[in-house]
Amino acid sequence: MDIKKCLFPVAGYGTRFLPVTKAMPKEILPILDKPLVQYGVEEAVEAGLKEIGFVTGRGKRAIEDHFDVSYELEHQIQGSGKEKMLDGIRNLIEQCTFSYTRQITMRGLGHAILTGRTVVGDEPFGVLLADDLCFGDEQGVLAQMAGLFKQFQCSIVAIEEVPAEETHKYGVIVGERLSDGIFRVTGMVEKPPPGEAPSNLAIIGRYILTPDIFEILERTEPGRNGEIQITDALLRQARERCVIAYKFQGRRFDCGSVEGFVDATNYCYENHYLQR
Ligand code: UTP
Repeated sequence: MDIKKCLFPVAGYGTRFLPVTKAMPKEILPILDKPLVQYGVEEAVEAGLKEIGFVTGRGKRAIEDHFDVSYELEHQIQGSGKEKMLDGIRNLIEQCTFSYTRQITMRGLGHAILTGRTVVGDEPFGVLLADDLCFGDEQGVLAQMAGLFKQFQCSIVAIEEVPAEETHKYGVIVGERLSDGIFRVTGMVEKPPPGEAPSNLAIIGRYILTPDIFEILERTEPGRNGEIQITDALLRQARERCVIAYKFQGRRFDCGSVEGFVDATNYCYENHYLQR
């Protein structure tokens, strides 16, 4: 079964980026001239996931407007050389459908994904956290994972090796190595205290989930920070069925932090902008 839907949980407050995120969604922050969320939707489309579902919250209207036509603007620049600057986003709008549902109280990523159930239904789906900006080597990261899903038919999380002093910021997995870069998850812990991480394999913001995750999430109690954690639900799924962890091929920038955002900007400037 091909995956068609991709969920974008974008309801978080983005507190690491205050004050800019006070009145503006983190996902609209630009890397050069394109907002983070557009890179994310492009990656989903490349993987064949064209039914885009957003789990939004208060103050996120700019995301809806970005994926819509702006008639005044289009009229203003019609016939000018600037029209081509909208080619990329117009192309996405034509190819995709966009659905929105609201998370009323921000009770964590697991809760945001559960909120997305109404737009996902009963089929496997991708989850993309747009503040993790990824550039795959030959294929986008989600496309790499969609390929793997065909083989395993179970939930897949993308992982990256991180320095030991950084593991407390991530969900961390332990797994049985199946082949190069592919593990069957046997353990998982959300944001382990410094020095207590079971490995340095950190989960990043790309998932493919099978729909039984929703029932597991319904039964998942709040965990770390009092939030409903997707890692807790995935651990249960790993024990009951199977979850694969996949060391993706490419680069990732944590654009939810100022340092990652600056690194991503420099990387895109040097590797994309100057090559245009
Ligand atoms: P993060 O913890 O990285 O994002 O959540 P945040 O809360 O927006 O940012 P900080 O940590 O305060 O700076 C990971 C992803 O999950 C979404 C966020 O929007 C982000 O994409 N999320 C998180 C929700 O949609 N709802 C939640 O209740 C929590």
